[in-house]
Amino acid sequence: MLQKIKSFFEVLEADSLESKSDVLINILLLAENEGLSEIDNGKTVDELKIIQTKYCSKKGLLPDLMKYMGKVSNKDKPVLGKIIHDFKITLENKFNERLTALKNAERQAKLEAEKIDVTLPGCNSQIGHKHPLTLVEEQVKEIFTNIGFTVVEGFEIEEDYYNFERLNIPKDHPAREMQDTFYLNEDVVLRTHTSPVQARIMDMMCPQLPVKIIAPGKVFRRDDDSTHSPMFHQIEGLMVDKNITFADLKGILLHLLKSIFGEERKIRLRPSYFPFTEPSAEVDVSCGNCNQEGCRVCGYTGWIEILGSGMVHPSVLEMAGYDPNEVTGFAFGIGIERIAMLKYGIDDMRLLFDNDLRFLEQF
Ligand code: DAH
Repeated sequence: MLQKIKSFFEVLEADSLESKSDVLINILLLAENEGLSEIDNGKTVDELKIIQTKYCSKKGLLPDLMKYMGKVSNKDKPVLGKIIHDFKITLENKFNERLTALKNAERQAKLEAEKIDVTLPGCNSQIGHKHPLTLVEEQVKEIFTNIGFTVVEGFEIEEDYYNFERLNIPKDHPAREMQDTFYLNEDVVLRTHTSPVQARIMDMMCPQLPVKIIAPGKVFRRDDDSTHSPMFHQIEGLMVDKNITFADLKGILLHLLKSIFGEERKIRLRPSYFPFTEPSAEVDVSCGNCNQEGCRVCGYTGWIEILGSGMVHPSVLEMAGYDPNEVTGFAFGIGIERIAMLKYGIDDMRLLFDNDLRFLEQF
């Protein structure tokens, strides 16, 4: 078409447009139709831009036609000018209309392609569960809060004074050797047991009664083998009031150990020694593995040593400001790892701290 129009002008003599104006108008209308249908058939924004260049750019058909203006008579110049101008406007309008439509369609297609179906099932992340030590700690807390005890926390970094002296273990006392201690400096240690919480809580409470607390938490000793870890967990128990007796201690411990290990279990209290209790008792639970026939778990004795306990030493009460003639109390300390190992049949304490999912997923 472009060629046709060009050759039309090539043969056109000045002043002869009038006689040929019908032909010219027809040719231009044809060209316009051709342009419009090309635009209609443009499939993409890029294709459309090529078509636009072909007709409307500086080197396109329409500016090219203007070059021939000189060939037409002065009288016909405005007529031809208007035709070319209209041609250009029509194409440009059509072009813009089509461009908007294509852009919308392309955006819509992109949106469709990127659409997220919120009803599709998601990728489940694995849900973890509680560590066996947490399970035991939570169970013990529940047992004691059910009978009116309060759960308190002490300090993992503790003063020598509370860790030892307030528990009746002065410097150079041989009992310090029972617990190989991490010293941070001469006066500050990583607590070797949860017992210092006894002294701290009595300081806070005195002279109020009763004191009924348990205190779970981490403790630290220089020990590391299959049954010892340098960091482990204990739960301290303390009850101080008027008329507390050894029978209360035994009753509570029986309730505790039956709740953890089962109603059929028995307990046994053996005389023992702790500087902060008098009398002191080591508490054993009957072996559930062999029904007390004797097995590896209980060392063929039928009994498993489970915790230390006793009646709070009068000096310990006195240092906190209580009058040992007026009030008495009992205390005990349990190792959480030991309970977990017995309860779940774990034979190496280090498994509890390895964070191996193959192990942890079994609980
Ligand atoms: N603190 C002791 C330890 O870690 C355990 C203990 C024994 C706690 C007797 C007590 C107790 O409260 O009365 O070995």
